[in-house]
Amino acid sequence: MTHTLDPDDWQAFRARARDMLETVLDEMESYREGPVWRHPDDLELPQISGKGGSTPDTALKSLLPFGVGNSHPRFFGWVHGAGTPSGLLADMVASTLNANCGGRNHAAIRVERAVIDWCLELFGLPETGSGLITTGTSMATLIGLKTARDVATAFTIGADGVRSGPELIGYASQGVHACFERAFDMLGLGKASLRKLPQDEMGRIRADALKAAIAEDREAGRQPFVVCATAGTVNRGAIDDLRAVGEIAKREGLWYHIDAAFAAALQLSDRHRGKLNGIELADSIGFDFHKWMQVNYDAGCVLIRDREHQLRAFSDRPDYLADAGRGIGSDLPWPVDLGPELSRGFRALKVWTQLIEHGPEKLGQVVDENIEQAGYLASKIETEPELDLLSYMGLNICCFRYVAEGLDEAALDTLNQELVIRLQEDGIAAPSTTRINGHLAIRVNITNHRTQLSDLDLLIDAVIEIGKKLS
Ligand SMILES: Cc1ncc(COP(=O)(O)O)c(C=O)c1O
Repeated sequence: MTHTLDPDDWQAFRARARDMLETVLDEMESYREGPVWRHPDDLELPQISGKGGSTPDTALKSLLPFGVGNSHPRFFGWVHGAGTPSGLLADMVASTLNANCGGRNHAAIRVERAVIDWCLELFGLPETGSGLITTGTSMATLIGLKTARDVATAFTIGADGVRSGPELIGYASQGVHACFERAFDMLGLGKASLRKLPQDEMGRIRADALKAAIAEDREAGRQPFVVCATAGTVNRGAIDDLRAVGEIAKREGLWYHIDAAFAAALQLSDRHRGKLNGIELADSIGFDFHKWMQVNYDAGCVLIRDREHQLRAFSDRPDYLADAGRGIGSDLPWPVDLGPELSRGFRALKVWTQLIEHGPEKLGQVVDENIEQAGYLASKIETEPELDLLSYMGLNICCFRYVAEGLDEAALDTLNQELVIRLQEDGIAAPSTTRINGHLAIRVNITNHRTQLSDLDLLIDAVIEIGKKLS
């Protein structure tokens, strides 16, 4: 082979690899020291040229300061996990194995199954359940809802399409994540077929509204098929009453899907596990390892109560994927029988190593600490006259705003938006924004094992200082 892509000089390649390892370890060891975020316009990327031939090492190193910032202790935006250095080791082995985890008979499939079995037990689902490691909760939601859709139509919809049969309807609270509407769209059901129901004062889906909406749709000849509960809404961290909602779904004969994207990690905490009471009623659960379980991006998960349902929804075994009985083409079912992707990487490895190395108990303690930190932040906000606490549900998310006399609502919105951008652009801290009761809010989400109370003190001091300047 004259065009092999392996190194000509393995000794030189080893030296490059060691040098790169030292560089990334230096970066990891000093996450706290740099700014939280830097604008990537300062980054210079070399041109791709037909000839290749230059090593990308300098360019690779130059990327390191320009991450989104979520490894830094003062990253509080959206819902991002902080990752762990040990994820690097798993990624090195995964890259070396270069496994295609759509199927076949090899170690990676065994590791993925071990992770799924552990998850089924964690959430109290039966051993006869199934699941898949996904890119994230968006993909987990799509897989869960497709399985629900297929079960509701006795698996005819896959062949016949959505043109036949009554309109299929799903239910969730107004706090539901945007990936649900997207999944309804992609499944051909239409975004309008997801009813977004009112929430109570704790942000939970209202049981009376849910029952009434199901009855109304049935009355109108439509076919309710899925109830979606959220454990940890993205805006405020509200948790639906998982047992009550699940019991309604069961009574009505509907599929019960739970989005526990980040709050699934509560199940690891002795102190907070009770908040997920009723999760074991789910027919499907979507959640992320890359959020509050601190696995490096990307790794989510879908779990399905009944393996047969997931297999019937996805398995179609063309000739070229036939079971060979022995050898590489054996050991069914494969991940491709449980989801839409054939080629897929070895995400399960970094999840598995995280669980082996740090253990569920310690990961649960990180959750406990983050919840305590959010409580500390909420009480600190309440003592500051310039700050107005807009939402704190006792979990890991606090929403608040800077207030100044003489400014109307529109001016306060503009000020708080600018304040958050300044915090980010100055590299001080990275909260994000949302709207709470119509007000633009500074949203602080703590899913970060590096955050200390002093980081929250620093954030509050900076918010007040910048707020004063802006007003
Ligand atoms: C409650 C909730 N559901 C779903 C998602 C989507 O998850 P992912 O980004 O892993 O696709 C998120 C992401 O933040 C979320 O917070």
